[in-house]
Amino acid sequence: MQGMLPAAVAGYHESTKHTPERLRASRHFLDWANMPDPFRHYEGAPLADLPADPRLAPQAGGAEAISALFYYSASISAAKRAPSGYRYALRVNPSSGNLHPTEFHFAARGLKGWEDGLYHYRPSSHMAEQRARGAPLAGVTEAPLCVILTSIFWREAWKYRARAYRYVNHDLGHAMLALQYAAGAMGWPSLVRGLFDDAAARQSLRAAADEEPMLLVELWPPAAPSEARPAVWTPGEPNRLSAGVIEYPQIAQIHGATLDCRAAPLCREPRVERWPHGDYAALARQRRSALDFLPDGRILPRAAFQAMLELLAAPLAADWRERFVEPWLFLHRVEGFEPGLYRMRDARVELVRPGDQRVVAAALSLGQDLAGHSCFTAVFVADLGRACSLFGPRGYRFVHHEAGALGQRLYLAAEAFGFRGTGIGAFYDDHVHAWLGLDPSGPLQTVYHFAVGDPVPDPRLSG
Ligand SMILES: Cc1cc2nc3c(=O)[nH]c(=O)nc-3n(C[C@H](O)[C@H](O)[C@H](O)COP(=O)(O)O)c2cc1C
Repeated sequence: MQGMLPAAVAGYHESTKHTPERLRASRHFLDWANMPDPFRHYEGAPLADLPADPRLAPQAGGAEAISALFYYSASISAAKRAPSGYRYALRVNPSSGNLHPTEFHFAARGLKGWEDGLYHYRPSSHMAEQRARGAPLAGVTEAPLCVILTSIFWREAWKYRARAYRYVNHDLGHAMLALQYAAGAMGWPSLVRGLFDDAAARQSLRAAADEEPMLLVELWPPAAPSEARPAVWTPGEPNRLSAGVIEYPQIAQIHGATLDCRAAPLCREPRVERWPHGDYAALARQRRSALDFLPDGRILPRAAFQAMLELLAAPLAADWRERFVEPWLFLHRVEGFEPGLYRMRDARVELVRPGDQRVVAAALSLGQDLAGHSCFTAVFVADLGRACSLFGPRGYRFVHHEAGALGQRLYLAAEAFGFRGTGIGAFYDDHVHAWLGLDPSGPLQTVYHFAVGDPVPDPRLSG
């Protein structure tokens, strides 16, 4: 891979591939006593109540609109009981290992019924913490509402170690699209900005030292012009997430390389992202990951599959604009298609390798049965070479955001058509490349998998 990609990207990606040998040699164990708190609070910051059961509709305004935006993109939506009896929260946005490295800050200006300022969303109680009054992000964004997605790498690295940088970027892709669809349901245009000056954003945000600004999701709700008043900061202090933090130099190195952001945006046009299949509000809150799928469950109807292909092919409203991911699909039980490995081009699939792929799909996903029990399992192959030639190492973030966003579409579509999805971040990278006939050290690399199928009931789940 060396030579085709920036050294930092090639080095990180290669060194975080899963192989059976590496997994066998690993002595990593989960240090539960040091697990990072999944909830960041800015303690002492004034709290703004967000109304319960907000309407996700163009008529919503002020606190109700802010409430709806987060209720349908980032809030707690279910609980699960672990075998030990411990109950933990699940959210509208998915996250690898349910570790939730993404934090949602937002800057508001000129919204009717909502004070100008910088806020941090508190999912644990569905409230907004007011971190500053005025317009601390005036030089960073001109949008009346801008959600700044930050990431706490340690939350994810606690479990997934150096590979975590991939997952935090997937999670960001899921979260950005969840926000865009919620905003779209209220008729608000949106544009995701991945190309911004990290240092300026970090300075304006005054976020905790362990939070890295990763995406700006700019939104255009109805707003009046509002003078950019200087920021008056509240005394809010970030809570400590765990007793000790383990540093992963590979993450520091790849993240450091992606800070270089000299490329110009390819898209500056916001767009209304409307969810096209059914009631977005209901689907967003019922979205869940399946633990596994019924091996002899229902066949995915052709119309549902075609709708999913169209969602996979649809553009993203993001300033890097380009699409780098090409899905390959293991079709196991899809109406009208013989089982096999297919390649997707322009919302259509072509057969590459006929025959039952259930065992191999599961084996490639680190032996996870759900990839073989599904109706289909997608493999998102990204052109890292093109992403990095356009955006330098920063392109490495974008391919993972894109893959996460495509996964988000499949999660919602699976619910809309009465099935269920699961994101899969764990796979034997180079075994996948070998099976697909791709050069393991070439610029095309698998970055994410996603399975859709008929879910097994999950008795641990409660609303
Ligand atoms: C990037 C990403 C990678 C994931 N990888 C796996 C995986 O390899 N296996 C799995 O069973 N679930 C995987 N999941 C599903 C998460 O475990 C799930 O989102 C989390 O437990 C929260 O549950 P929920 O999606 O129902 O809210 C992944 C999710 C994401 C977003």
